Amino acid sequence: MKETTAIAHPNFALVKYWGKKDTKKNRPAMSSISVTVDSMFSKTKIFKNSQSNRHQLFINGVEETDLSKILPPLAYLSKFSKSDDYLIIQSQNNFPTSSGLASSASGISSFVTAYEAHYDLNLETSQRVESCLLGSGSAPRSLVGGFVFMDHNNNYKCTQILQKSDWPLDVLICIVSKEQKEISSREGMDISKKTSPLYHNWLNINDEHIKLALNAIQDKDLIGLEKVAEENCKTMHDVMKTSIPSISYMTDVTHACIEEIENLRSLGHNLFYTIDAGPQVKIICDPHSSKIIKESIINKTDVIDVIQAGLGGAPRIIDEN
Ligand code: DP6
Repeated sequence: MKETTAIAHPNFALVKYWGKKDTKKNRPAMSSISVTVDSMFSKTKIFKNSQSNRHQLFINGVEETDLSKILPPLAYLSKFSKSDDYLIIQSQNNFPTSSGLASSASGISSFVTAYEAHYDLNLETSQRVESCLLGSGSAPRSLVGGFVFMDHNNNYKCTQILQKSDWPLDVLICIVSKEQKEISSREGMDISKKTSPLYHNWLNINDEHIKLALNAIQDKDLIGLEKVAEENCKTMHDVMKTSIPSISYMTDVTHACIEEIENLRSLGHNLFYTIDAGPQVKIICDPHSSKIIKESIINKTDVIDVIQAGLGGAPRIIDEN
């Protein structure tokens, strides 16, 4: 029986989106800029379900009952494949799932990549973006490697700004907790859009932050990127905090990591952080400082682990035979 497997990497936003323009079509309300990382990945295998008349999704070997993120891309893609196959979709993450580590981005983009190859579709880039968006607002960015700009004014087109060989930075992912988050990004951003008094300002600053980050990345200006990325991250977490009910994804360990990052910076190391809808802290740094940063974070905070990564590439099909 034909089986197709694809690998895709997660991406972390440096200029974030938080809020949807259109919840039905899952459209982000603003543009974003992210970095795709190499050592973390989702590996997704698909094949025809010959046992039952339904799609079945397994994540890390456990059957998932909530198919709400996979069915919309599947319905969209089946218009091109003209297939009414029921599928078995087996996805494995080599990192904790649903805890603010962008597992839905890598999961969905690996699924879309596997599906396209399985049915020899030869999709246009915009169709890949569309199918990813229907699953997760951040997933289209994982279709591209390196630093990626997703433009909400241009149909969510995802463009590579720089790739790994242009600016080979490291990304250190500090695992603060492996628990699944209590409020999903989707729920959280809906609450913020409806209730946070800061949401309007958050929408308005997006253009400026995108411009600053694009310039900083093009100029390989780590301090410039630090300023805009940390400001953007703090603003998003203020939007979350001022929502009703107030949303907070950070823990004491998250705060301890931030303190240690600031300490390392005062000692002359080039690094900055970003935090998404979860407690994990992602550090972007000069590779010369990676070892000392990793050791300091492990020794001085209660993090569970630090994953070291470089900038990742686009999704790919793998041959498992
Ligand atoms: C804070 O795109 O994961 O990471 O569309 O519901 O899957 P869904 O949400 P998702 O939310 C990402 C939120 C964020 C910011 C970002 O990645 O830009």
